[in-house]
Amino acid sequence: MDTFVIQGGATLRGTVRVHGSKNAALPQIAAALLTDEPVTLRDVPRLSDIRNMVHLMEALGCPATRDGDSLTITTADPTLSLAHYDIVRTMRASVCVLGPLLAKRGQARVSLPGGCNIGDRPVDLHIRGLRALGADIHIDEGYIVAAGKLRGAHIFMGGPFGSTVLGTANVMCAATLADGQTVLESAACEPEIADLADLLAAMGARITGAGTPRIVIEGVNELHSADHRVIADRIEAGTYILAAAITRGDVTLENCPTDALWAALDRLAEMGVSLETLDNADRLRQTVRITRTNELKPTLITTQPHPGFPTDLQAQIMALLCLSNGNSTITEKIFPDRFLHVAELLRMGAQLVRNGPTVVISGADELIGAPVMASDLRASAGLVLAGLAARGTTIVNRVYHLDRGYEQMDLVLQNLGATIERVPEKA
Ligand code: EPU
Repeated sequence: MDTFVIQGGATLRGTVRVHGSKNAALPQIAAALLTDEPVTLRDVPRLSDIRNMVHLMEALGCPATRDGDSLTITTADPTLSLAHYDIVRTMRASVCVLGPLLAKRGQARVSLPGGCNIGDRPVDLHIRGLRALGADIHIDEGYIVAAGKLRGAHIFMGGPFGSTVLGTANVMCAATLADGQTVLESAACEPEIADLADLLAAMGARITGAGTPRIVIEGVNELHSADHRVIADRIEAGTYILAAAITRGDVTLENCPTDALWAALDRLAEMGVSLETLDNADRLRQTVRITRTNELKPTLITTQPHPGFPTDLQAQIMALLCLSNGNSTITEKIFPDRFLHVAELLRMGAQLVRNGPTVVISGADELIGAPVMASDLRASAGLVLAGLAARGTTIVNRVYHLDRGYEQMDLVLQNLGATIERVPEKA
């Protein structure tokens, strides 16, 4: 397993272009199952999660070809419907083939993903939504087995932690080919859902309200080919904004989805980090400059479904708050156990106390480099940010987690002036 070796203390300066969104691209690749015609997605990032999804699509008879940043998915064998545990266990987002398979092929056998380092992550809301559309679903030997003809329904998508992003994606995709009208109440409002609806509309689906809690879908008989550009990755953008902030940097981000980041930008403004818009482009693809010269002020953060503060930036902003001038709190309301980075930050001299879903952070004068263990994708990003600001050397182990969601993070940070090196496993 590769490691990152980081010498902290460099101020980041320069320009980064934000890649296409991993979490938007994954359900969009799965949505290609809804048609027999080719679907082309542009700005698809080169990440191991994307490769896993492409691998799964091949196993479902839909090979993909890459041309630069574009991915074209075609249907070669529409009879397959098995998403094997061996693939699904490597990536939970595989479950978003369930709705498209059921709607287009009339049946699906998709492995239950199981838990992961950030929590139990059930899929009961996906199953409940698809059952409401008329699917017959049971669990057999660890697999979700679904079949049936779908008809529109009025479905409440909320659960104990709010709505579900991939659950909304699954049910919305399935409803595009159902008989009649489907209304999703308490649907996820994440920009990735609005972008998926844009792709589905380009394929001929009739959807209104995506990006709001109420999505209305009028079923159609079939969908066709489409060519769609994936939105920019708000979490990658947020991570590099935080990298600029933690190193007192001056970084310009191109293709920044400012409009998808208001909750994070609001907290950063309160902490004393400045963001200046440099162009009049679409607010999902802006050029912005991030600077930080003053001491960081503490703040209070609660993760929430969009448009609240994203759980996927929680670990990264915790690293920043470790260096603020006072006491802060972070309360995690999406994944209450998503705190494996806390113990690692403590090893770097952070002053943190966890009490259930809340962590109290007392700002310290400095962090001190240490060997740390990455436990999941965003926790790893938080540890890299801490390492960039720490005195001395930080070794982040298991960076394969980072490769799931950040395209060449080591090279991006090197280009901004960071002293960071990837050490391959055998070295
Ligand atoms: N939940 C249920 N039942 C369900 C589904 C979800 O109780 O059937 C709960 C979850 O346990 C959690 C909450 O609802 O407490 C929200 O989970 P959600 O289903 O929205 O998560 P997801 O769709 O599986 C996506 C992202 C995650 C991101 C979450 C929350 C993708 C591929 N994954 O997961 O991204 O943290 O939404 O915003 O889109 C990441 O990129 O690092 C990542 C983990």
